[in-house]
Amino acid sequence: MAVIAQITDPHLRDDGADPFHDPAQALRGAFAQIAAMDRKPEAIVLTGDIIDRSAKGYGHVLPLLRAAPVPLLPMPGNQDGATSFRAAFADWADFHPDHLSFTSQIGDIFLIALESTRPDGGAGLGAHQLDWLAQVFAKATGPAILALHHPPFPTAAPHLDRAGFQNADALAALVTQSPVRRIIAGHSHRAMQTVWAGVFASTAPAIGHGLSLSLTGAAPHRPVAALPAFELHILDDSGMVSHLIPLDGMRSGCEWIDNP
Ligand SMILES: [Fe+2]
Repeated sequence: MAVIAQITDPHLRDDGADPFHDPAQALRGAFAQIAAMDRKPEAIVLTGDIIDRSAKGYGHVLPLLRAAPVPLLPMPGNQDGATSFRAAFADWADFHPDHLSFTSQIGDIFLIALESTRPDGGAGLGAHQLDWLAQVFAKATGPAILALHHPPFPTAAPHLDRAGFQNADALAALVTQSPVRRIIAGHSHRAMQTVWAGVFASTAPAIGHGLSLSLTGAAPHRPVAALPAFELHILDDSGMVSHLIPLDGMRSGCEWIDNP
């Protein structure tokens, strides 16, 4: 058995100008909830957008993340700068020298953390990441979780899909022949689930603010109030199952607004 907690998109600012609830408070709430579990996860994977792009660096988040009740594995998102991210978290995971991907055996789960932010800031994978992934898959023996910041699957939300995911087809071809049992991502700031490349795939809600949903793409894409949450991904003898854990304690701290 193995349990991995997934926390994503805290968007930790350093200017106190959070548009809705305080994501640092939400993160501490998630840590407290994990610490109180009768069967704690082996690790937390933080699937990106650790800081908001308004923040100057990671100095304000490191003490917060060091307070995690179990080992925390950080991944970059499109809001994180690759150079400053690598400098801040060099000792936190075994990052590839050419991209911020890594693997980690977590109990019976083989975690593959794949950087999905291109140098131009868009979503997708370059040849060097695909080559690395093929080598990782070739050596993997046990059940694996593939974690990315960006969902590689179509979401039916034009604001998310418009920019595309470079080399999604190549990734799907690799995943289909791989030991990946679960794909997890963030970026959308909402819970979404689908089957993609034959694998159950999802995004987790954000610890930070939510994002508005428009299924036509006509309404503007903007931050909205949302209840922060995290997920648990559990592997046992019967397979892999995931739990969505809303931070109900934050409800009274959220400034709820109408979403016209
Ligand atoms: Fe985000």
